[in-house]
Amino acid sequence: MNQDYENFIRLMKSKTGIDLSMYKEAQMKRRLTSLFQKKGFQSFQEFFQSLDKDQALLEEFLDRMTINVTEFYRNRSRWEALENKILPRLLKENQSLKVWSSASSTGEEPYTISMILSRFMPLSQISILATDLDEGALERARLGIYAERSLAEMPTVDKNKYFVNDGSVYKINDDIKKTVQFKKQNLLSDPFGTGYHLIICRNVLIYFTEEAKDILYQKFSKALAPGGVLFVGSTEQIFNPQQYGFEVEDTFFYKKI
Ligand SMILES: C[S@@+](CC[C@H](N)C(=O)[O-])C[C@H]1O[C@@H](n2cnc3c(N)ncnc32)[C@H](O)[C@@H]1O
Repeated sequence: MNQDYENFIRLMKSKTGIDLSMYKEAQMKRRLTSLFQKKGFQSFQEFFQSLDKDQALLEEFLDRMTINVTEFYRNRSRWEALENKILPRLLKENQSLKVWSSASSTGEEPYTISMILSRFMPLSQISILATDLDEGALERARLGIYAERSLAEMPTVDKNKYFVNDGSVYKINDDIKKTVQFKKQNLLSDPFGTGYHLIICRNVLIYFTEEAKDILYQKFSKALAPGGVLFVGSTEQIFNPQQYGFEVEDTFFYKKI
């Protein structure tokens, strides 16, 4: 790693608490270099000096490093496995479910879980924690207004039931909104709760180094109740699940033993 980037990592960590060394280096460096070059800076050092004084630039940095791409029912077949196999077992074994959608971005994922859970229980009994590092994404999630493309994978019945179409946008209804509490959290530095029956962590682990993934799998395992499930993204298979006290329950679903 070159000195310029190494110093930038150290300075950003003390300024924001974000540890860029836990993200895959080549990918992150490329993304940030293209941003600072676009802004006319010559080095990470110059970039930091401006970031340190300019809130708007800091927000642009955050926007560039956190990739917020998401959609309702992303990889739909996995949500069907959740509905048809994982949730029926969890609900047989537990009276109520403690659910956490981590790295929830603009909210499509936790709202998807809420819609699926509502087929098993009244909305008034559903409570989902949703967290992300990015304050801007959390704000959009709380607002619950989406472009049509976010709903491409959504079953029509849910679209009709839970959204109001207002011109080119879809507004999620308040009953679903109330089931999700959004909170800022950095997966790499903040503590996790305990006793979860379902933790969803999808499409963020791919950005992390092997060391960071290892730490996170251990933290997720501790946060789950026995029999609880970690649901990961469709490119994020865990190679040694037993090492973390997991067994494979279905593709991309890991059950805590
Ligand atoms: C590609 S989105 C994934 C959204 C959703 N889970 C999905 O699969 O559709 C990745 C999210 O991870 C968040 N993220 C990145 N680093 C994080 C960290 N250290 N802690 C918490 N969230 C983080 C980003 O802000 C972004 O919203």
